[in-house]
Amino acid sequence: MENYAPLLDDTTQSALGPLWDILPEKVAHALDPAKHGDLGGWQEALARLPVVKPTRIELDTDKPIIGAEGDCPEAIRETIEGLLRKFHPWRKGPFLVHGIHIDTEWRSDLKWRRLQGHIEPLPGKNVLDVGCGNGYHCWRMLGAGAKRVVGIDPTLLNVMQFQAIKHFAGEWPVHVLPLTLEDMPEKMPAFDTVFSMGVLYHRRSPLDHLLKLRDLLQPGGELALETLVIEGGDLQVLLPEDRYARMRNVWFIPSCATLAGWLKRCGYLDIKLIDVTRTTPEEQRTTDWMRFQSLSDCLQTSDPGLTVEGLPAPRRAIFIAKNP
Ligand SMILES: C[S@@+](CC[C@H](N)C(=O)[O-])C[C@H]1O[C@@H](n2cnc3c(N)ncnc32)[C@H](O)[C@@H]1O
Repeated sequence: MENYAPLLDDTTQSALGPLWDILPEKVAHALDPAKHGDLGGWQEALARLPVVKPTRIELDTDKPIIGAEGDCPEAIRETIEGLLRKFHPWRKGPFLVHGIHIDTEWRSDLKWRRLQGHIEPLPGKNVLDVGCGNGYHCWRMLGAGAKRVVGIDPTLLNVMQFQAIKHFAGEWPVHVLPLTLEDMPEKMPAFDTVFSMGVLYHRRSPLDHLLKLRDLLQPGGELALETLVIEGGDLQVLLPEDRYARMRNVWFIPSCATLAGWLKRCGYLDIKLIDVTRTTPEEQRTTDWMRFQSLSDCLQTSDPGLTVEGLPAPRRAIFIAKNP
């Protein structure tokens, strides 16, 4: 189990105090074995990961490098690969762990490239990544110089994958907590930059999501928001009747103009749309590390501009905005 004690160093002690107060109970609740049948297997795989001293760590690169191939004998590398594969499906990445290429469903590096040059520089910043998945972007934020990165994600497999990567990387000021945004303490303006990427469309109340993100930002802090959008004008928003690209839990997909209006209504300033990109099968695909269906199985073969449900194919926008 990850040691969360380093979360509270001298500089963050008072700012993150309210989080520290609720953390033990929330973590115990999230890691209740009765709630998740696979948890025992993942914990056992984590406990069996060999201890190997990494001679090389590079985080500021598309495929973060954690340890070199020659750091351990081939037989140990095979053991490591076998154990890492127990955390299938690997959706966010890629990673290179002691020469083992974790070729994930998403080329998450492409999203990072789209936003990296537009955000406030991260050196010295306290950063929160809401819905961080397995923490791929948390490592990139650290590689970009952040002082401390806190990721939160309620999906236990993601938290376990993060812990597997951290096992090999060692102690760094990056943590992934098994929490939802709604679990976070009320009004804890502890972060200079807050990321919410790929989460808004999963929320039934997108405005509450935007307001809660603001509550966690320091005055003058920056939000980086990435979500699905549709083409269209002011006030246009898609609410799928049922599934969207085979996903069950998709609620609101606004146009960029609508989303800018939501951000404004929630009190954000300096709202900038920095990117709109249609998702391609180069960015999201089935791989050896994620053997289930992926994007191309969710689009019509005769018209890849439409999902199998006949809705506009996934297109994602990134907004940057400021907390006043
Ligand atoms: C599509 S993934 C995005 C992962 C990553 N941020 C990225 O952009 O690649 C959405 C993530 O949000 C998480 N999530 C869903 N509801 C959430 C909530 N209420 N609070 C925080 N995270 C949530 C899911 O567990 C999932 O890992």
